[in-house]
Amino acid sequence: NTVFVLNGPNLNLLGKREPEIYGSDTLADIEAALRGQAEQLGLAIEFRQTNNEGELVDWLHEAQRAGAKAVLLNAAAYTHTSIALLDAIKAIDVPVIEVHLSDPTKREAFRHTSYVGMAAVDCVQGLGPHSYSVALEKAAAL
Ligand code: DQA
Repeated sequence: NTVFVLNGPNLNLLGKREPEIYGSDTLADIEAALRGQAEQLGLAIEFRQTNNEGELVDWLHEAQRAGAKAVLLNAAAYTHTSIALLDAIKAIDVPVIEVHLSDPTKREAFRHTSYVGMAAVDCVQGLGPHSYSVALEKAAAL
């Protein structure tokens, strides 16, 4: 009953990075909150961050091998560029829920395309750190 929570580039700088857009919570704060929630839901969590596209691809494959219940994926900027991530999501049976702190559809035009969204089963965005908890609830209900 493990949910992989995979975070992409620049999310390691959360809290310091454009706080007017992404807020003041760090990724560690989000992880701590999610762990508490996961415990209540009876789920285990594998929480990771990388700045490398290929590592996200490898972790999606790993989620499949591990028989994960779901993946919450905030691919950050790779959301809008990565056909490799789209293909990886299509290549696995594990349901992937797209997550964003901000709402990319209300920002620059180059954020309006989501390759992740073309294969994800659901999307939660624009709620700040709460996007992760809503996505975890959705994962629990799958
Ligand atoms: C983001 C939105 C992306 O457009 C951006 O590149 C990010 C963060 C979010 O969580 O709001 O790095 O995924």
